Amino acid sequence: MAERLEPAAAAAVDLAQVGSHDRVLDVACGTGNGAVLASRRGARVTGVDLEPALLEVARRRAPEVEWLCADAAALPAGDGAHGLRLETLSRATLELAFADVAEARRFLVRTAGHVLAAEPHLRREGRWEALQADLEALIAARARPAGDGIALELGYVLARARA
Ligand SMILES: C[S@@+](CC[C@H](N)C(=O)[O-])C[C@H]1O[C@@H](n2cnc3c(N)ncnc32)[C@H](O)[C@@H]1O
Repeated sequence: MAERLEPAAAAAVDLAQVGSHDRVLDVACGTGNGAVLASRRGARVTGVDLEPALLEVARRRAPEVEWLCADAAALPAGDGAHGLRLETLSRATLELAFADVAEARRFLVRTAGHVLAAEPHLRREGRWEALQADLEALIAARARPAGDGIALELGYVLARARA
């Protein structure tokens, strides 16, 4: 099972362009597919999962990674220590924290390849700004206040989030 998930984790790590300058938090890491790949690229990595047995497998794969057994929903939002937050193929109902609606919008646009691919022609047709406004309205309707910012529940995220 874990092996079958690896291509998605590899795609996420590629999309996020993880490098040695990154400090990565792999949320719901399971056996560590994303975390292990990020670590091989030289990033300093922490993997978090609820299942001790999966973390044991992960630890054997990459002892250099910090593995934490914890409920990701209970992690401090945007702890500042991890510039890059990965979540690959998680069914967990996790919330991502953002400073505000505009930051959440930028994050979603950056991580949705089809939106980025459509940007040039939407701009040419003058529809880009309207799309951004719609997206912000949607986020505002779904987000809840959290700390100084907002929290947004997202599933199945291949994510890069800069602090
Ligand atoms: C489909 S697996 C994905 C594992 C890994 N991200 C990958 O791509 O190979 C989903 C993982 O989410 C973990 N999980 C579910 N809810 C969680 C939570 N609230 N906090 C931490 N981990 C959670 C499960 O234990 C499981 O390892």
